Amino acid sequence: MCGIVGYVGKQKASSIILEGLKRVEYRGYDSAGLAVLEKGAFTVLKKTGRVDNLVKLVAPRKFHATTGIGHTRWATHGGVTDANAHPHLSSDGKFAIIHNGVIENYVGMKQFLAGKGYTFQSETDTEALVNLIAYHFAKEPANGDRSRFLESVRKALLHVEGTYGIAVLCTECPDEIVGARKGSPLILGVGDGENILASDVSALVSRTQNVVYLKDGEVVHLTEKSFSLSTIQEQEEITPKIDRVSWKVEDAELGTFAHFMEKEIFEQPAALENTMRGRFSADASTAIFGGLNLTAGDLRQIDRLVFCACGTAWHACLVAEQLIERYARIPVEVEYASEFRYRNAPLDKNTLVFVVTQSGETLDTLEALREAKRKGYTVLAIVNVVGSTIARESDGGIYQHAGPEIGVASTKAFTSQLVVGAMLALYLGRLRDMSYSDGVEYVKALKQVPELIKAVLTQAPHIKAIAKRFSHHRDFLFLGRQSMFPIALEGALKLKEISYIHAEGYPAAEMKHGPIALISPDCPTVFFAPAGEMFPKLVSSIQEIKARKGQAIVITTTGAEFPPGLADERIDLPPCHEAILPILATIPVQLLSYYIAAELGRDVDKPRNLAKSVTVE
Ligand code: G6P
Repeated sequence: MCGIVGYVGKQKASSIILEGLKRVEYRGYDSAGLAVLEKGAFTVLKKTGRVDNLVKLVAPRKFHATTGIGHTRWATHGGVTDANAHPHLSSDGKFAIIHNGVIENYVGMKQFLAGKGYTFQSETDTEALVNLIAYHFAKEPANGDRSRFLESVRKALLHVEGTYGIAVLCTECPDEIVGARKGSPLILGVGDGENILASDVSALVSRTQNVVYLKDGEVVHLTEKSFSLSTIQEQEEITPKIDRVSWKVEDAELGTFAHFMEKEIFEQPAALENTMRGRFSADASTAIFGGLNLTAGDLRQIDRLVFCACGTAWHACLVAEQLIERYARIPVEVEYASEFRYRNAPLDKNTLVFVVTQSGETLDTLEALREAKRKGYTVLAIVNVVGSTIARESDGGIYQHAGPEIGVASTKAFTSQLVVGAMLALYLGRLRDMSYSDGVEYVKALKQVPELIKAVLTQAPHIKAIAKRFSHHRDFLFLGRQSMFPIALEGALKLKEISYIHAEGYPAAEMKHGPIALISPDCPTVFFAPAGEMFPKLVSSIQEIKARKGQAIVITTTGAEFPPGLADERIDLPPCHEAILPILATIPVQLLSYYIAAELGRDVDKPRNLAKSVTVE
């Protein structure tokens, strides 16, 4: 959360920063601001609300500065006000900073600095840090050496408890930026005669595809032509590893769609094709993964799996749990990463830990990974963003290859996690008791997923009409059994996230133990009732809803027969292998939530209070 962009080069910094901020806006959108450095002085513009508000402020100004920093904020310390928006200046006017993270000991820092005459304009933790940098700069001997700026930042950071991704400007070093990270992402884009710092690859791919991913505890010093990397603590020079990013700028553009969420829903056939590409064995009976860094022999020793994740990714883990337990017969536990790291759960010797995350930056998930590694467990990651912190800190894993996901509500990243989970169940199953022919059938089913999703997507106009009919309701229930239960949770989460309608996901058979009290004409139920052995029981539950004058939107299988009048609305899924059913069943609830939110005029891609990547606790 919070987006960071810093630019030093020959071009107009304000334009490049604004373009970058638009691309990282999904990381936080409480306020936006920029600082440019011209003729030895800063101009700072900042405004609550979206980057567009900042664009309006910048438009009438004639900036020529070629060095600057910009920020989009997801508020932590201090309310959503212009004063609390970043960048922040030191009270001597010499430094400007943008910051993503939380400085936990800022109160003590502020007291110390106030005693030294520094003053504060905002309620933020960040302003304490920029003044601490100014304090150290004032103490450093002025020897004309470029490193004075870098040393002041480094010294200040030695006193920081908490997390940060920062970029700092100094009036006395007008063509330089110093950046550093601990716990919050920071990426250096190495350009041609320019260098860029950003919290996210998407902010810099329009300028360069050559990047250096900073590690925790590293500080970078950049000018337009050069950069140097070193450790904050030991001041050791680091030889940078330049990676090449495969994302293209068009991947993160809206095209003809109204919202990124809509685009990402409709690009799921292609995204899931990419997730599976090259990952089936030559005999088409199992999956292959290149990056697990574990042999078949190692994996046969594993007798328990623990999955940790947050939000939507946690729902994907619940589906993986069911498939792995069913097809590979390995016990699986699914933990909220935020609880796992503090729960100190006893883990058996032969436990393998998986973390699942779209962004690869979610702090709770990262800390769960670190906690498990600290205890000596092997941790594998299922991640979408290549080069992200979790991808780099894990012992191995599986990239989702779903492409950039911009909409804050996760869609294609979720279904690609479902695909990876299903493939993992197949792979582990085939290492144990799953037969060759069952494996072949399973692979065949997975390969059909893109086409079957396309078929479900053709029902979009029908689902849009259902959304219109039900959009005025303020409460919804989502009910499903077995592998449909996690999809019920995901459907409810999608609806609340983007439409602000209260929705609860529940196991369908548990309805009678509580949620049935909510059933009324005002609280419709989205009910997953696919064909299969549970079908008669599911029909009975829907009857209980109807008996209480509830309305049911039923997601079922083409050809399934219900008593007349049972389903107020019906959405059909093509008959399919049960391993891929959760993937197909997700599509209608994504569309339903999307169309309800759009009908209500909500800001679908940037729902209130949320951020795509939560890098604070
Ligand atoms: C935030 C987002 C959710 C997401 C969760 C985990 O809360 O709003 O959409 O599911 O983080 O994100 P991750 O990147 O770890 O999958």
